[in-house]
Amino acid sequence: MKFTMSKIFLDDPNLGDLEKKYLAKAIDTNFVSVVGPFVPEFEEKFARYIGSKGAVAVQSGTTALHIALYELGIRAGGEVIVPALTFIATINPILYVGAKPVIVDVDSETWNIDPEEVKKAITENTKAIIPVHLYGNPCDMDEIMKIAKKYNLYVIEDATESLGATYREKQTGTLGDFGCFSFNGNKLITTGGGGMIVTDDEKRAEHIKFLVNQARDNSRGYYHPEMGFNYRMTNIEAALGLAQLERIDKFLEKKRNFRKIYQKVLDELPYIRFQQEYDNASGSWWLTCVKIDKNNIDIDKLRLKLKEKGIPSRKIFMPAGEMPYLRKFSKSCANAYRIYEKGICLPSSSLNSVDTIEKIGMILKELLGK
Ligand SMILES: Cc1ncc(COP(=O)(O)O)c(C=O)c1O
Repeated sequence: MKFTMSKIFLDDPNLGDLEKKYLAKAIDTNFVSVVGPFVPEFEEKFARYIGSKGAVAVQSGTTALHIALYELGIRAGGEVIVPALTFIATINPILYVGAKPVIVDVDSETWNIDPEEVKKAITENTKAIIPVHLYGNPCDMDEIMKIAKKYNLYVIEDATESLGATYREKQTGTLGDFGCFSFNGNKLITTGGGGMIVTDDEKRAEHIKFLVNQARDNSRGYYHPEMGFNYRMTNIEAALGLAQLERIDKFLEKKRNFRKIYQKVLDELPYIRFQQEYDNASGSWWLTCVKIDKNNIDIDKLRLKLKEKGIPSRKIFMPAGEMPYLRKFSKSCANAYRIYEKGICLPSSSLNSVDTIEKIGMILKELLGK
């Protein structure tokens, strides 16, 4: 099959005149660093969009996760349950605070942390669960919150990939104690690099604002009553964030539609498995990914063939237990391995057109055969 296609975007940011306008404002007013009006405005508007009482803008999704664990007092001796299938940044912050990650398997159909595996991993030292709404697919939050309540555990949602996804009509990131977001360049909206931590606990939100500003007590000059961090977002980043937030609904609509198109084209292949949604969940589909459940499929070779046709793709995250320094923390994770070996992330940037996505689906279908 021969198609002519314009450049295809995997997960590239969608930036335009509005972003330029806000950025110019930041520069014109000379507020380029952490002081400036756009940071609190972005926090406020993001909190409103998400439906949380408090939001603190930080430097990245990783710092959001770190500060959440730190704020909750999770330290050496504590254990935190995480899924095997995630970006490494979900797990490293647990080590930063000196606690122990407990890496468990995911569900084979949703690709998200399996609540049954969470139950099995609980010990007297367990302090928290970090469910990751992988690629924009909400986790089984009813079950996770039930477990957390029963065992008195904190829930820190890694919503870095799921901005806009909902569960029981609530935004992911607002269901647990904390929600952590990333505005890295490849995410639904970007601030270049940045993140946000949200919570309904306004006291904790205030304390986090203080912690990320070197725990500085401004009323006494350079006085720091406790150890803090320099994790603040800059005014330049918040300028981008405000522009992107105004356009978020369009981005979401496009991504959700792209998944539908891929499904329409590929669903008749019996071995193609899209991530399944739980009841009451609505994914944002930051990336549309599929598992090609065929024993003889070689994902690396398939990706090369797609590349030859100008189609970029992405590998699925390597199960965390593969990392030498994490091996000792991992349970056996057969589902995560199968998804890693047979899965692929398809072009999902909102810069693509519907037509392009349809053609990518048809080329993939032709490459895979019956
Ligand atoms: C699942 C997951 N967790 C955490 C992060 C960390 O976010 P950041 O890159 O903004 O630090 C990312 C994104 O990069 C991610 O995909």
